[in-house]
Amino acid sequence: MAERNVLKVLKGDAVFPPPIWMMRQAGRYLPEYRETRAKAGSFLDLCYNPELACEVTLQPIRRFGFDASILFSDILVVPHALGRDLRFEEGVGPRMTPISAEEIAALDDSGFHSHLAPVYEAVGLIRKSLPEETTLLGFCGAPWTVATYMIAGRGTPDQAPTRLFGYQNPDALDALLATLADLSADYLAGQVDAGADAVQIFDSWSGVLDEAAFERWCVAPVARLVKRFRERHADIPVIGFPRGAGLAYENYRQQTGVTGLGLDWTVPFEQAKRLQASGAVQGNLDPLRLVAGGEALADGVKAILGGLGDGPLVFNLGHGITPDTPTEHVEEMIRLVRSAQR
Ligand code: CP3
Repeated sequence: MAERNVLKVLKGDAVFPPPIWMMRQAGRYLPEYRETRAKAGSFLDLCYNPELACEVTLQPIRRFGFDASILFSDILVVPHALGRDLRFEEGVGPRMTPISAEEIAALDDSGFHSHLAPVYEAVGLIRKSLPEETTLLGFCGAPWTVATYMIAGRGTPDQAPTRLFGYQNPDALDALLATLADLSADYLAGQVDAGADAVQIFDSWSGVLDEAAFERWCVAPVARLVKRFRERHADIPVIGFPRGAGLAYENYRQQTGVTGLGLDWTVPFEQAKRLQASGAVQGNLDPLRLVAGGEALADGVKAILGGLGDGPLVFNLGHGITPDTPTEHVEEMIRLVRSAQR
């Protein structure tokens, strides 16, 4: 079997030049994505159509030849599979009906896996269509990040509604996070059963919490999720991405049991190198350097390769690519990484 370099790095080996993929690599910056999305109807129709979800997953692989492919879906299909309403408003983002403490106690997971069957089917189609050497990543949102959308009903800049809910209804939030942790573990295990080689847990909103809340609402639920996932798939790498965790990145790998650490672009190299001593890191180019291109891009790539290139590194952005990114800049980033000399 051709070697999958992303898996190799996640297992702790240094590969230079490092393998590369991008968070949100299938998306609106690609004209072919916009075309398929128009054909699907809505964003959610695209997520639940296995053939079209497979098609958009493969688009960035065909165009750029990334070393990893990530299942095309969304973190909010998990609450959707629990019967919560969900819609994506054009140019605005996700909208849900805010969940109450009473509704948390009454959540019904009986239709969960049948609702997600098209996602598992998409994973199988993608694995069959990918080049042998391309790693296929499954994913889910971390319980805290998913809960912020369920409780606020939308994205907010600092997750004030969910923080306040948690202080006023601590037992209800704990119960919601535990439910999401267990179901997300089973969801990731199902993606692996269908063909995913590794998985990533997106905790995009972990950076808004104080120390105690971070422990209770981010670390503990992710640890619970990883433990339950490992009961079914002990050897599958798990990437944790606690965006904005700052100093709390320090013990995150040990506390949660994740294999690889996704770093946002604010993590300094001195800290990142320390984190790399205990395993693989992934990241962490500021996505706006990719929008800007030129010197800003070249300097950013060079700093990451210089700072982290000697250890186990998966080159990535520090968060998702933005829709206004020119595709030529993506090509340039890949060229810079792949032509790098030590
Ligand atoms: O990385 C990939 O290519 C895989 C696909 C993927 C999407 N969403 C597709 C998507 C992944 C991994 C996600 C994760 C996700 N979704 C996160 C965590 C990562 C992050 O970016 O912080 C979050 C918080 C969500 C929830 C979500 N989905 C929001 C807030 C939005 C609206 C913002 C936006 O960019 O429009 C989405 C919509 C979404 N998810 C789009 C895509 C391609 C754009 C929708 C469209 O095509 O109209």
